[in-house]
Amino acid sequence: MTTLLINIKELIQVREESVKKVSGNEMKKLPTLKNAFLAIKDEKIIDFGLMKDIPSYSAAILIDCKGKMVFPTWCDSHTHIVYAGTREQEFVDRINGLTYEEIAKKGGGILNSAKRLRESSEEELYELTKVRLDEVMRLGTGAIEIKSGYGLTTDAELKMLRVVKRLRDEFDLPIKATFLGAHAFPEEFKENQEAYIDVIINEMLPKVASENLAEFVDVFCETGYFTVAQTEKIIQAAKKVGLQPKVHVNQFTTIGGVEKCVSNDALSVDHLEVLSDDDIKALQGSGTMPVALPSCSYFLSIPYTPARQIIDNNLPLALASDYNPGSTPSGNMNFVVATACIKMKMTPEEAINAATINGAYAMNLSDEVGSITKGKKANFFITKEISSYNFLPYNFGSSVIESVYINGKLV
Ligand code: NIG
Ligand code: FE
Repeated sequence: MTTLLINIKELIQVREESVKKVSGNEMKKLPTLKNAFLAIKDEKIIDFGLMKDIPSYSAAILIDCKGKMVFPTWCDSHTHIVYAGTREQEFVDRINGLTYEEIAKKGGGILNSAKRLRESSEEELYELTKVRLDEVMRLGTGAIEIKSGYGLTTDAELKMLRVVKRLRDEFDLPIKATFLGAHAFPEEFKENQEAYIDVIINEMLPKVASENLAEFVDVFCETGYFTVAQTEKIIQAAKKVGLQPKVHVNQFTTIGGVEKCVSNDALSVDHLEVLSDDDIKALQGSGTMPVALPSCSYFLSIPYTPARQIIDNNLPLALASDYNPGSTPSGNMNFVVATACIKMKMTPEEAINAATINGAYAMNLSDEVGSITKGKKANFFITKEISSYNFLPYNFGSSVIESVYINGKLV
């Protein structure tokens, strides 16, 4: 049976199959169709066009979208939603003057989450994560990447990735798993960092690969965390077992990580709150997608990724949530898009491109999601009656989404 959305006020992000990502100059344009229809069958988009050209379908379920717009669902290419316990005490500590780095040095931060995660069962983690995933789907996310990195022991890292695997089996949206064993040095390896890197390379990676638990590898490449040399060692070992790098880099300092990631064929480099001219140069002509995480900047009160500099150099840019208990306790991609417009001076067209087609690219999912394209998954949301797509980021505090569909099914 065909499902037919009719009288769509504006159908957003209509693309040919060949478009995998859009770079700076192209990001300024958001292709749309006004007064349109969209046809869905067997979980896929089978057709779309102007209402005046609508073909006749013998039997179809009709959804009247008069006054409403239809967007492809958001593609959130960077999250850490498998975690146990929240960290609002650190939030208060920051209000009272401590920095993110100072909290981490005191054993808070990532190590705090690791301690709690190790004490939780796989079942408990699954239940907690399921709630978060349901929540972000209702907010319009229709494809997501999820990282490990709060385990920091072989067992606990595998436990996290098994939770992700189970989610993948039980949810309809595409879910990509990233192994982030190199998120921080655990307490027991503080004085012997190389020994922990050995554990990552010789114990964790072979198991992650043999159980097929992740497609990507990530490292927190940052002063006080993993050096550029350590990052390269880990991502090269991971590449040998088939994992592609997607790396946390330049959150607080620029130490040459971007260039190393690009030369090691990283699919994305994420954060980039600080960015040098050399970093921009390294990204030029590469297949590596820069990814900005504005909700993290907002929550930690750190600089925003210089989106204008990136886009005006004709580089592509993706937006993601970074949903995690420490730096970004929110997975709301509508807020991400709004914040990118308000704080990073991205236009609505640029921000929507960054949160859909470019987000899909940053998960190797351009063939399945990220645009209204024939043959792609029927993952889309219908808005309330709104005057223009600019209203979505403008109306930043509340949701304009009326209903969300994943594989053509109402969430
Ligand atoms: O992307 N920066 C590194 N990792 C996470 C935060 C982790 C945490 O504080 O728990 C991030 O912001
Ligand atoms: Fe992150």
